[in-house]
Amino acid sequence: MNLIVKLLLFCSIFFTCSQDRNKSVNIIEKERSDPHSFSRPELAVTKHLDLELFCDFDNKIIIGIATYDIEHINASEIIFDEMNLQIDSIDLINDQGQLTKSSYRLNEEDPILGRGLHVRINPNTKKVKIYYKTTNNATALQWLDKNQTNTKKYPYLLTQSQSISARTWVPCQDGPGIRFTYTAKVQVPKGMMAVMSAANPQSRTEDGKYEFKMEIPIPAYLLALAAGDFDFKPIGKRTGVYASSDLLDKAVWEFADLEKMLETTESLYGNYPWGRYDVIVLPSSFPFGGMENPKLTFLTPTCIAGDRSLTSLLAHELAHSWSGNLVTNATWEDFWLNEGFTTYIENRIMESLYGKSFADMLSLLGYQDLQKTISEMGDTNSLTKLKLNLKGKDPEDGLSDIAYEKGKSLLRYLEERIGRSKWDEFLKSYFEKFKFKSNTTEGFLNYLYEYFTELNPGIKDTVNIWIYSPGLISFKPNYDSSRFTKVENELAEYLIKFDKSKLKTNSWSTSEWLHAIRKLPRDSSKKIRIEMEKNFQLNKTGNTEIGFAWLIYKIENGISDDEMNEVESFLLNVGRRKFVLPVFENLIKYGREADAKRIFEIVKNGYHPITKNSIASLLEPKI
Ligand code: BES
Ligand code: ZN
Repeated sequence: MNLIVKLLLFCSIFFTCSQDRNKSVNIIEKERSDPHSFSRPELAVTKHLDLELFCDFDNKIIIGIATYDIEHINASEIIFDEMNLQIDSIDLINDQGQLTKSSYRLNEEDPILGRGLHVRINPNTKKVKIYYKTTNNATALQWLDKNQTNTKKYPYLLTQSQSISARTWVPCQDGPGIRFTYTAKVQVPKGMMAVMSAANPQSRTEDGKYEFKMEIPIPAYLLALAAGDFDFKPIGKRTGVYASSDLLDKAVWEFADLEKMLETTESLYGNYPWGRYDVIVLPSSFPFGGMENPKLTFLTPTCIAGDRSLTSLLAHELAHSWSGNLVTNATWEDFWLNEGFTTYIENRIMESLYGKSFADMLSLLGYQDLQKTISEMGDTNSLTKLKLNLKGKDPEDGLSDIAYEKGKSLLRYLEERIGRSKWDEFLKSYFEKFKFKSNTTEGFLNYLYEYFTELNPGIKDTVNIWIYSPGLISFKPNYDSSRFTKVENELAEYLIKFDKSKLKTNSWSTSEWLHAIRKLPRDSSKKIRIEMEKNFQLNKTGNTEIGFAWLIYKIENGISDDEMNEVESFLLNVGRRKFVLPVFENLIKYGREADAKRIFEIVKNGYHPITKNSIASLLEPKI
């Protein structure tokens, strides 16, 4: 080649590269499509994760190696999210399998998002291998000492990655719009069991080494791990439960309808795509009711009421196998696509299994919660919109009844306007069309309008108001309230002379109890409370939903000093944030702030960091 040709070639390569670099700079400067992730999947994206985890229970840290298969076209870097991790070193592996050290940098810490981890890559980089450790600020992780567990034999570790905590235990592209498959090798102390959101072992290994595989691409918020003293029992063909020995049989009994629920949901919305559906009953400090980790839902033990009465929670997490895990909200601003659809489907499962009047009671309670939430938040509050603007905010700020109950009500509205059978066909085709993808609110609307070309323009306008305006539209779904009317009538009679026989509680479900408690008049004389407890032992119930509602009623009506030990024991035994946070809020609101602070000091070490942080910020002095 003569010199001029070489020179021309060099110039053209040089200029193309620098143009490409300019292009990437421009994209980097452009607004990120997910406000809660530093990653730039359009430049370089993770496709598969191979995890090696050593769970060090003595130091309460995980020592990890995360090796990612990546895809990119000549990108100069790949960006991961991380928060409070210690990054030790990073290697690159090229298309020949050769390993080199990589240089990387971390951007400045954002208090909500953590830091972007920028790893320099080469055009032929195929894998990135990150050596790291978690620290004791990992919000996703809870480490329990053995004396904090049910069986007291082994310690326990549990994770909660949603919404943006996966980055506190695995460096990852932590946005719900990015999916990857994973395999994992996990080492826990000998004798302990370990499970993940993946194909799981059903019995313990001798050496505490476990291997996992998730062959279907999932977003990072569905990465999950639990390790402790628990075992497996089957429920149905594809379903089963993991729980500690004291709860295992109770859980199998409580969740007896699980296989039927799975079949019902499949008949409505298409095949269950994840293989097995198992659940694990966690220690009581698990901060949520449930978490839809694929193949393995994580559950609070408070759903074991002993009478199968709280299984709508199970239906909810199962429903996420379609709405959320199969079709995923593109960002947390579209959170209602996950939770609103799921709350809707949950109720359809309950209706199929237990009938309309039963399911409608659950819906009515949810609708009451929605009205209360909107009146507390204010009906011009932008957080009462379905489509949220969360730029600069914590996704937690969008976590309220709005996504769940307003989202569900919109879907009810559409069902009533379109007719159930056409609506069901639409939903089934929606899941088929967007399976294993993420979707935005607008993507959903476009598909809806494409599918129902004849949809009345008035309906479209109304749907826009539901989604983009705050407050609640004046549409009340057509729920059957006859069983609640009956409760109200019985209650009116009962309150005359506190004649126990007037309340036909033998036929009451949890919903009837909750409605009755919500309808009790104010009780400054404490007469109602004393009679209710004498007649129905509401302060001794094993049903946490009822126990919680009752405790709140007592706090709202002035709880006495000697009843504070009931509050304390509730807060010691229950770690689910939905329950403990309102108890603390109401203690503060009704003049018991000093007690709230005292009790928090006693209970806080048993709480998951997520719950602990929420309460700490509630109690910290406001400036
Ligand atoms: N995915 C959620 C839990 C979640 C949401 C965790 C947002 C972190 C951020 C789960 O499916 C859920 O909704 N749980 C509810 C259950 C209920 C509505 C039946 C809960 O925990 O209370
Ligand atoms: Zn949910």
